Amino acid sequence: MSIIEILSTEKYISGNEISKFLGVSRVAVHKQINEFKKMGYAIGSSSKGYILIKNGKLLFNEYEIKTNLRKQLDICKTIKYYEEITSTQTAVKKLAEKGFGEGIIVVAEKQTKGYGRIKRMWNSNAGGLWFSMLLKPVISPDESSKLSLLLSIALKRIFEKEYGIGSEIKWPNDILIFGKKVAGIIIEMSAEQDAINWIVAGIGININNSLPKNLENISISLKTVLKKEIDRAEFMAAFLTEFENLYFDFQKNGFIQFLEEYNNKIAYKGMFVTIDSGYDVITGKNFGIDENGKLILELDNKLEKIVSGTLRKAEK
Ligand code: BTN
Repeated sequence: MSIIEILSTEKYISGNEISKFLGVSRVAVHKQINEFKKMGYAIGSSSKGYILIKNGKLLFNEYEIKTNLRKQLDICKTIKYYEEITSTQTAVKKLAEKGFGEGIIVVAEKQTKGYGRIKRMWNSNAGGLWFSMLLKPVISPDESSKLSLLLSIALKRIFEKEYGIGSEIKWPNDILIFGKKVAGIIIEMSAEQDAINWIVAGIGININNSLPKNLENISISLKTVLKKEIDRAEFMAAFLTEFENLYFDFQKNGFIQFLEEYNNKIAYKGMFVTIDSGYDVITGKNFGIDENGKLILELDNKLEKIVSGTLRKAEK
């Protein structure tokens, strides 16, 4: 527990109580309080002790995320926050290679080398929500792609439940609001023939970040949609709680239970789309996904199943 979590009750707590709680000296408490003040926290002190003053500032760091989580999650045992990092994805992959277990999350204010699917550069200015999670699901490697479908469902639910916004899922895992990309997901895995060693799931959400001119036509941020700054710690805690439930339910009962929900929100349903596999581009009618997460396309009056590729709305 951190001092911020202890003070989150917004009542006076004496330095003595804090030092007993944390098992550190009064001097150490005083030092930590000063560190938190430097991070932007308004902490008042009087003869009654210390008090956290909520001054309406939306701070974002690991303490804020933990304070917003109402219970300890198995997918989020440790959170590490960085002001700047090359890529949270690269950082978590390194930890995975070192043998760390499920439940580590790295989150950053800014990424200098953020990347997306097919190693595309991912714009990661300050203000967005950029994080990666280390997962070790007990599923076969060929089921791993369903995890990205689940992550999209969790995101779609949060936009709807917490912010009252409808969104669509562009197969396999882009989230669109008003037809523009608000979030992207990447899944990277290390596996043996029939067992997964680890999965690193990276999630990038345009929350309060401003988008460069060249992305304005195709991307959107939540701040633009809601016309106000969003509390990222609150968003992230809600998302992690939602995903934790889906994740364990999926491992127990499979993906089929989520199929209808996914297909109800799939973008460009019944419309002509192109799929770019990197080798060729095919055009067909989008019939949604099957129980294995494959996209069903109607091509020359025949139904075909597509495993991967980049989907775009066909030009006509
Ligand atoms: C995509 O749409 O292609 C996926 C984008 C994933 C971006 C996130 S941001 C956090 C994590 N770190 C990265 O470098 N990439 C992912």
